Formats: sequence, structure tokens, C-alpha cells
Amino acid sequence: MRVSAAIHRAFEISKIDDRLYAAFIEHMGRAIYSGIYEPGHPEADGHGFRKDVAQMVRDLKIPAIRYPGGNFVSAYNWEDGIGPKEDRPVRLDLAWRSKESNQVGINEFATWAGDVGIDMMLAVNLGSRGISDARNFVEYVNHPSGTYWSDLRRSHGVEKPYNVKMWCLGNEMDGPWQIGQKDATEYGQLANQTAKALRQLTPDAELIVCGSSNDEMPTYPEWERGVLEECYENVDYISLHKYFGNSSRDTLNFFGKVEETGRYIQSIIGVIDFMKAKKRAKNDVYICFDEWNVWYHKREQDSKNWKSWDWPEAPELLEEDYNFEDALFIACLLNEFIRRSDQVKIACIAQLVNVIAPIRADKGGKAWRQSIYWPYQLASLYGRGTALRVSVDGPTYDCSVADDVQYLDVAATHDGDIVTLFLVNRHLTEAADLRLSLTGFENARVVEHQVMEGHDLRATNGPDNEAIAPRKGSGLAIEDVTLGGSLAPLSYHVVRLSV
Ligand code: AHR
Repeated sequence: MRVSAAIHRAFEISKIDDRLYAAFIEHMGRAIYSGIYEPGHPEADGHGFRKDVAQMVRDLKIPAIRYPGGNFVSAYNWEDGIGPKEDRPVRLDLAWRSKESNQVGINEFATWAGDVGIDMMLAVNLGSRGISDARNFVEYVNHPSGTYWSDLRRSHGVEKPYNVKMWCLGNEMDGPWQIGQKDATEYGQLANQTAKALRQLTPDAELIVCGSSNDEMPTYPEWERGVLEECYENVDYISLHKYFGNSSRDTLNFFGKVEETGRYIQSIIGVIDFMKAKKRAKNDVYICFDEWNVWYHKREQDSKNWKSWDWPEAPELLEEDYNFEDALFIACLLNEFIRRSDQVKIACIAQLVNVIAPIRADKGGKAWRQSIYWPYQLASLYGRGTALRVSVDGPTYDCSVADDVQYLDVAATHDGDIVTLFLVNRHLTEAADLRLSLTGFENARVVEHQVMEGHDLRATNGPDNEAIAPRKGSGLAIEDVTLGGSLAPLSYHVVRLSV
């Protein structure tokens, strides 16, 4: 198939917020315990954190990480995780029917985050608790000294405050599965009052209010309207969550879910704009897509398991094995975030280690990178700077979730003297014969081309096999002002041009 495309130096979408490549990690399953933290493992450092896992995390250049939940946060007492480890209580985690040992709490997590170079984005419990506990938590984390909570932190060996700026006001508060589920007005009022209190403690805080748990919730998008009605002026972001599956093994329809996500984002932008006009508000509210990933391979089995088990500690849960098809899908989804970067400022892959994660760590064994690690890494490394508009003229397809889906999915960024193109040929059988014109970029030349292609869609990586990974690409060249070449069916390309 022939595809024509064009970019122009002056046709910018937006400066990309680096936090478009943020992550999320929750106290659930083996994400924390025997994921990032496993004292006694041969790779454990002096704090009990796994060095092999930490290095894989560092290589992703993640700017921010959301913690400690997720559903877990809605019944979490943050104070259980501070002070001498031997005095910390073991609690029942109602979200995942597990036992929480509290051996990792805010100070341990901050040590890990500092070591891997990631800023913390913390969630407060607005399910079983409220303003007072949230306020105490922020005081413990961010106040310098001279008060009960700040001096308690100092007595725990942390002299300087962490100055955490990003705070999530609860998690998925519309969900019937949530401890402390609320209706939109009730939650919106609580979020509003909590936001005001948190901003007194941290005036430059960036506050994220919960949107719907996903776009299939019966209350979506009325929930967003109701919540923002109560708190628009006091928050900075509204959260979106979406998980994707392909149980029917319909690859093109699976890929079409990226367009569905675009509609989801567009609808919430509509709600935000409506509320800004209604309130005559001066402030802007942006989108924080703080949970996204593929989640379906083991979903049914997992939900049977955890509903019947007897409160295990750090059980295997949501340990999805990601295949090549998932990697192509994630590449397209990240392209969509780049194309929407004028409104989507923060996005968090959910999650980071073991639980629906790009990195897996076997207990007592090896750490390894799943197929989806690579598109996430390539976007995080090179999808910075300014997003450019790309016009694409090529064959399209219809599927049950969307019509007119381009077979070739493209995003482009411009950063200093580098333009990066992210290209996914979603066609099942045909190569894309690409001609992409570059206007305003003199003397462009290809300096790097990485490709993922040629794998069975169901192929996966494992502890002894990381075959699904990018390799050096070839066959794309610039003639005059046009990039041309052939992109194999079902392939992902990251092409960096010096301009
Ligand atoms: O990421 C797993 C779970 O999915 C999170 O705890 C929750 O917020 C969402 O429903």
C-alpha cells in the first residue's frame, strides 16, 4: 500500500510534558514485594531493593511515578509504613484480599525513587479516610520541621522534606469495587476541600482529581461533569484510566482501540471546556491519563484466584505475559498521547514491575524485559520536545470500535536538531510504501532507525529469552525533502533525523 505523509516545522501541536512517560506502581501482587524490593535476593542493595530491576527502570528514563495505589490506597493507612520496620503492623489489604506487611512505606519508596531518579506522585486515601489524614501525610512528606509530623519524619532519619508536588485525590472513586465509593457530588466536594487544605501546605502542588474509572462506566462522562462542578477551580488535572484487551483475537479491532481512546480524551476535553465556561474560570484543567496498559491475558483466572484465596502476602497477581501484538498496540497508544500532548500532560503506564508490567522479576531469580518495555522506552527516550502535526494520506479500515483507521499510525516530535518519527504499520499483510515530506527541515538525514518486526503476534519474552526487542533498521532514506522506504506489515519504527 502507498502512504503519503507530511510534517512542517511550523505546524506544532504542543510542547510535550516529560511526564507523558510517567509510571504507576501499587502495593499489590508482587509489584513492590519481590518486585522492586526483595531483601536476601543476590541482587538486593543495602536497603533490600533489587539492583537488576532498578537498572531496567533507570534505562526507561521515567520522569514521575504514581504511588501507592490504585485500589490499595482507598483503605491504606500511610502511618503504618513509617518508623522502625519491626514495629509496623501487618494489615489486611481489602482491595486485593492480601496481607500488607508495611515493610515498604513512604520513606523506603522515596529512597528507591531517588536512587532510580524518578519524582514521586503520591495518592491520598479519600476512600476510608479524608482531609485530616491527607493533610497529615502531606505535612509529614513536605513540611521542613517544627511540627508534630515533620519532626516525626526527621526522627525517622529524613531531615529534608521531599517537596512532592503531584498529589492524586484518591483513586477511581466511582468504582463499586472501591472502599469508600462515592457519588460524583460527594466525591467532588471532598476532593475540593482536600485540595484547598493540601494547597495551603504545598502552594505549588499539582492536584489530580479522579475521573471515571474508565469510559465504560455507566456514570461516564456525567461523573466528570459532576466532579468538576464541585472542584474545577481548585484542581489541575482530571484522571483517565483505560485498560485494553483482545480476547477475540481481532488484531485490527484491537489496534482500533487507540482511536477509541482518542475519542475518550476528546470527550473529557469537552467536559473540561464546558465547565471552564460555566464557571467563568481562569485556570486550565488538563488530562492525567494515570493508568493505561493492556490487561486481559490472565484477567479471568486472576479474578477467580484472588476472590477465593486466604489473604496471602505478595501473591502472583496480574502477571500478564505480553506478546508482540501488545508491543505494537502500546506503540500506537503512545503515538496517540504524543498527538494529544496539548491536553494530555501526564500519563502513567500501569504498572511498572510484575503487575501488568513491562518489567518482570522472578522471586529469587532473574529480571527481564517484556515486549512492551521497548515501545515505552523508545517513546520515553525520544518522544520529548515538541509534538508536530502529521498529515497522513493512506488506506484505512473500519472495525467494530472505529471507522477510517489509518493502517499507518504516525507521530512526530522535534527536539533541538532532531526530528523523531514513530511509525507503526498495522496492516496484517501489506508493506507500507512511505513517502513523507519534510518542510522547513533543511539537510535532513537519517541518523538512527530502530525497528521491531518479524515476530509472531503471540510471541512473548521470558527470563531466558528477550528476542522481542528493537534492532537496527534499514531501507529508509531521504531524497531531497522526502523520507521514503518500505515498512513491513506489522512493524514498528523509530526513525531519528538530524535536521
Ligand atoms: O492497576 C490495577 C488496578 O486497576 C488499580 O488498582 C485500579 O486503580 C484499577 O482499577
